Amino acid sequence: MDFNFTEEQLAVKEAAREFAQKELLPGVIDRDNEQRFPTEQIKKMGELGFMGMMVDPKYNGGGMDTVSYVLAMEEISKVDASASVCMSVNNSLVSWGLEKYGTEDQKQKYLTQLTTAEKIGAFCLSEPEAGSDATSQRTTAEDKGDYYLLNGTKNWITNGNSAGIYIVIAQTNPEMKHKGINALIVERDMEGFVVGKKEDKLGIRGSDTHSLMFQDVKVPKENRIGEDGFGFSFAMATLNGGRIGIGSQALGIAAGALELSIAYAKERKAFGVEIAKHQAIQFKLADMATNIDAARLLCLQAAQLKDQGKDFSQASAMAKLFASEVAMNSTIEAVQIHGGYGYVKEFHVERLMRDAKITQIYEGTSEIQKIVISRGLLK
Ligand code: CAA
Repeated sequence: MDFNFTEEQLAVKEAAREFAQKELLPGVIDRDNEQRFPTEQIKKMGELGFMGMMVDPKYNGGGMDTVSYVLAMEEISKVDASASVCMSVNNSLVSWGLEKYGTEDQKQKYLTQLTTAEKIGAFCLSEPEAGSDATSQRTTAEDKGDYYLLNGTKNWITNGNSAGIYIVIAQTNPEMKHKGINALIVERDMEGFVVGKKEDKLGIRGSDTHSLMFQDVKVPKENRIGEDGFGFSFAMATLNGGRIGIGSQALGIAAGALELSIAYAKERKAFGVEIAKHQAIQFKLADMATNIDAARLLCLQAAQLKDQGKDFSQASAMAKLFASEVAMNSTIEAVQIHGGYGYVKEFHVERLMRDAKITQIYEGTSEIQKIVISRGLLK
């Protein structure tokens, strides 16, 4: 692996860091408390090119590589994981999939708006009875000739209410099992599409997670992505890339917790000296830093394989699996280092701890990542 970052990659990282510190940090605690989506901030992220980073500039994208995306995701996630999950879904699950598998018309119509955040994207796979078991889709897309008739319910959809463009995975031909599934582009104002209840979550409370209902929604045939029956393969391929995004989000949460812990340990005094002078704290910081570096290397490895056009499905599952565990452990340690201050909102680390947990659950639980990794090993 060669990680001598280019000047461009370092400039992207610096721009993301500056944006996060100046625009996301003020108000992040209030948005978490009030479960308020960072509407203005996401708009600015679109203007700065963070919402379609890897897309070709001809579709208003940033034309950047996946390594740059990891660097930017880390910096944004250090401060606001609610903003970064919106960024990750828009980049990895919606824009990337559309650019790779969509028709030219779909790209002109939808991708050009997603990359600028004029409209935000949502990826709708999970259902009440199909979370980890993604092949068991109950939402149906009945083939009616010119259009698909879409019926069903999706759950836990990130950007559920803030999105304008939804990629919906649905079953067209149940006899064909996962080979009868399609991926359809649904617009928010299509008749019969209803945004349902908002989830009241433990973490990433600034992101809007909703259930969605589709009641006889007529989706034009030209809104299908890929050939008939390609929907499940589409979902799996996009999730492979999505796991680089969530791995980097987890990395950022952990790295943010470490930065805050180092600053606090140098300031806070106990037993007559800064707590950073106590070995008990030094050992915690050293363990956190070592694990975070390892997580970063796994994320960058997966990104580099993707940029080289190689198979990165195992590498991205490893990156997400490891980074999400590091995020959980590091944030728990950060709260411990902060003591009583760690347990109150003002010091940020309790929020990071709450946010960390979801990285072990969405885009495939840790157990799903282990399935993906071991299948790669055993095939
Ligand atoms: N990459 C590419 N293809 C894959 C794949 C991968 N990682 N995993 C499976 N496939 C393909 C298989 O090759 C197979 O294709 P063929 O039939 O053509 O050979 C097909 O998919 C079916 O695979 P399996 O028979 O292995 O299916 P399975 O049901 O046993 O298990 C699974 C598949 C890996 C468990 C899959 O269901 C899975 O990944 N589940 C987790 C779903 C998930 O991540 N959900 C997250 C929701 S999105 C989200 O969270 C977004 C958000 O809001 C932030």
